[in-house]
Amino acid sequence: MHVLFADRFKTRGDSLKYLRGLSLSLFNLNPKEFPKELFGREKELDELVRLVKARRWIAILGPRMVGKTSLIKAANVKLEKTGVKAIYVNLWGAKGTHGLLNALAQGLNKENSVLQKIKDMANRTEGVSFGPGGISISLSKRPMTTMWDLLGAIGKQAGDCVIELDEVQELSAISGHLLRLLANIFNTHPNVVFILTGSMFGLMKTLLEPRSTSPMYGRSPAKFYLEPFTKEKSSEFLKKGVQECHEATTEEQIEEAVEKLDGIPGWLTLYGNNVAVRKLPHKKAIQETISEGMKITKDELEHFLQGRDRTTYLAALKIAATSARWKEIKAAIETRRNSVPNDATVQNALENLKAAMLTNEEEGVYTVKDPMLRKLLLTSQIT
Ligand SMILES: Nc1ncnc2c1ncn2[C@@H]1O[C@H](COP(=O)(O)OP(=O)(O)OP(=O)(O)O)[C@@H](O)[C@H]1O
Ligand SMILES: [Mg+2]
Repeated sequence: MHVLFADRFKTRGDSLKYLRGLSLSLFNLNPKEFPKELFGREKELDELVRLVKARRWIAILGPRMVGKTSLIKAANVKLEKTGVKAIYVNLWGAKGTHGLLNALAQGLNKENSVLQKIKDMANRTEGVSFGPGGISISLSKRPMTTMWDLLGAIGKQAGDCVIELDEVQELSAISGHLLRLLANIFNTHPNVVFILTGSMFGLMKTLLEPRSTSPMYGRSPAKFYLEPFTKEKSSEFLKKGVQECHEATTEEQIEEAVEKLDGIPGWLTLYGNNVAVRKLPHKKAIQETISEGMKITKDELEHFLQGRDRTTYLAALKIAATSARWKEIKAAIETRRNSVPNDATVQNALENLKAAMLTNEEEGVYTVKDPMLRKLLLTSQIT
């Protein structure tokens, strides 16, 4: 047994993770980490691996909870088998250049093979030190230079590798710096590929549709859309998960869950976990999934609203939840603010909402596609 695991996994931690993943099956609430755990994404997984091997930069786009992080993590296992090293960087909560640096250090510390290769170069970098836990970042006076040196060390010493910036919208405040840094890496280290992803779209837009003055002009990443499951796939997913847990459900229950959860794997997983792990009755499991989904959505929305004009944005979102045209949105903002907003304010708010993928616009009609967000906006739980 030991020999077998030693063969397959680099560390004991990896093998334990694998066993835990298996025992919790499809309804494990963490992002999946192994291709085997990922349901119904074989084509996407192969495509992602193919693009990275072809050294294309990629932006993974898709609604919240659709499985972006799981897809990247599962792809890493496949990539590593082909000799591409993967550094996963979780940017959630990372503010500014120091946040970015610390997140990169954390990602590197999980990728021991890269860490060993860049050790000497990184040791000579200002603001970086090595300890028993790996790299740590001290308050560097010039964090972007430190960042550049670290990435340079990876580019020179680590061979083919992919750096994954998850929740990249967190860096929108330093997007100018980031775009220059990325453009430099693109030009200097062709062996380093970036995958960018996040629930919101703010920074991605400048990457995906760079103006001719942008450092990323002509270097845009390939867009990779991750779609929700179809009705059939959602139903298969639930049936498979329920079977794995030896639970019993009826066709009608599966159908209702599929209907209410809109094919988003994260919400289907949460429902399945409520039924099969927490053993809640079906109706209660749906109710709890929706209220938990609304809670998570509320936290994310609050995060988005920080530093923005809450009244204007919420007025626009709430009316868009029932679908509205520009004029109706302007009127709704006026009612809530008790004063007439100027057109530029309305336009700006709508552009930001679209960029953050919170609203969609088709032929002048604004809507909210995300089912949880729509439900939340139609209640008085957010004001
Ligand atoms: N294809 C899949 N097979 C099995 N489980 C999945 C799949 N896709 C997503 N999940 C599950 O759904 C949940 C959300 O997945 P994940 O965190 O990867 O999504 P995300 O798009 O990164 O979400 P967020 O928008 O919050 O960052 C997790 O519990 C994960 O295990
Ligand atoms: Mg994610």
